[in-house]
Amino acid sequence: MDNIILIGFMGAGKTTIGKALEKELSMELIDIDSFIEETSGKSIPELFKIGGEDWFRNQESEALKAILEGNNRIVATGGGIVEREENFEIMKNGGKVFYLKSTVDKLWTRAGKDPNRPLSKDLTSFRKLFEKRKSLYEKAADVIVETDGKSIEKIVEIIKNS
Ligand code: S3P
Repeated sequence: MDNIILIGFMGAGKTTIGKALEKELSMELIDIDSFIEETSGKSIPELFKIGGEDWFRNQESEALKAILEGNNRIVATGGGIVEREENFEIMKNGGKVFYLKSTVDKLWTRAGKDPNRPLSKDLTSFRKLFEKRKSLYEKAADVIVETDGKSIEKIVEIIKNS
């Protein structure tokens, strides 16, 4: 089975939907943030602090490449995966890309001021980042899944049937 790649902003539900899909399909879920944390032995905020965002983005691209060399995988990406141009090509060749789309207000209620997310400190910069990235998610996606008002089961069904 082709890899399923989940993209979207912070709080879009990539990990939650990934877990639900893993239960439903016989595919392995790999969460890129967890993969980086496990291989480095450090948390995301620590990695941002030590190496800076740019260095984190390098780790993220390397992890994406390595993970997508396998198949039958569900890949939950970090919200910043669209920050690097090279990741578009890696994702395009690595599986089917699903954008979990939601409104910025909903995203903020789920991911705002999360101490584990260095880029969700205040609403103004969160919004600005969302505005900068929103067309990039649409560009990278094979399928756009509007998630607002839908249950996890419904979203899983849409992805399964796409
Ligand atoms: C980031 C999103 C995070 C994590 C890091 C940076 C971003 O992942 O990779 O904090 O730049 O949007 P989630 O989208 O899972 O929160």
